[in-house]
Amino acid sequence: MTQKQTVIVFGATGRTGASVANGLIDSHKFNVVAAIRPASKDKPEVEKLKSRGVEIRLVDISTVDDSTVDALRGVDIVISATDHSTISAQKQLVDAAKKAGVKRFIPNDWATPCIRGVRQYYDDKGVIQDYIREIGLGYTFIDVGIWHQIIFPPADPTKQFFPTQIEGFAKIYRGGEVQNAFTDIRDIGTFAARIIDDPRTLNHYVFIWGEEATKRQVIDIAEKVRGIKIETTNVSPEEAEKELANARAAGSFSQIMTEYEYSFWVRGDNTIENAKKPEYGGALDARELYPDIKPLTLTEYAHSYYGTSN
Ligand SMILES: NC(=O)c1ccc[n+]([C@@H]2O[C@H](COP(=O)([O-])OP(=O)(O)OC[C@H]3O[C@@H](n4cnc5c(N)ncnc54)[C@H](OP(=O)(O)O)[C@@H]3O)[C@@H](O)[C@H]2O)c1
Repeated sequence: MTQKQTVIVFGATGRTGASVANGLIDSHKFNVVAAIRPASKDKPEVEKLKSRGVEIRLVDISTVDDSTVDALRGVDIVISATDHSTISAQKQLVDAAKKAGVKRFIPNDWATPCIRGVRQYYDDKGVIQDYIREIGLGYTFIDVGIWHQIIFPPADPTKQFFPTQIEGFAKIYRGGEVQNAFTDIRDIGTFAARIIDDPRTLNHYVFIWGEEATKRQVIDIAEKVRGIKIETTNVSPEEAEKELANARAAGSFSQIMTEYEYSFWVRGDNTIENAKKPEYGGALDARELYPDIKPLTLTEYAHSYYGTSN
């Protein structure tokens, strides 16, 4: 019997990271370790990970040093899924992983296909991808489309994922006919467990997706499931350009979110077809690699979400 690979997950108390940790645990194929920042060691989520057999190592991605190399000793695969403030700090983590003899590094991507020069956040993530290639560390880059959990806004504004979620959902760009790829967060870990155990994905970009749909189709699902009419607003190409320019001038989270919206609904970057193009990174299609995985649909998610008190 071959020895199980050891995988350390950064961000295992967060949304993507928890899905990844769960996927790895449920696969029974790995020794799963969670890198938890010292300040978070007593969180209930950490107790839950421990109760599922996950080893905890205390590491803060923002303060990587020689002790981090020790924390990574014996680790075969590093998976990074921390928040947007920690993207550039991954460079030191990549160095530590290389020193510790890690075989494969999955940096913090987990978003939507794009090309450089459109979204600053994508470009920042690209700097880390370039660095991993430059120093010759094994890698897999993974994107997932838009989460089902982020596209459908709550009925209650106090439960919004981000402040403009309800307003943004009702905006129609380009007639609402631009295709986008979507994935339920819960499926990310199921796919990730297969991807990192697969020699075909080493040193490749992989695209996970559950379904493709237009804004009109997503709104249609929400209307049918909720039994309401959603009032939409058409945004002209000129208004879209103005929104983008204003957000770029404001910077920060506003820029991240507006550049996403522009990439999704105006440019149409987030499609399966684009992800596979060389200029988008030439992705391997996770659905073609693992046809036995049956991802959750937008309609299934909408029923489970709006069926509760949201
Ligand atoms: N595709 C989509 O629709 C979509 C949507 C949202 C996000 N994303 C992407 O998914 C990725 C992860 O985002 P998320 O929203 O899933 O994350 P999240 O839920 O915000 O969780 C962040 C995680 O990072 C950990 N963390 C923060 N700072 C840290 C540090 N200095 N050292 C170690 N751990 C630290 C947090 O741990 P603590 O417990 O210590 O706080 C938490 O586990 C990002 O790349 C983001 O762009 C994609």
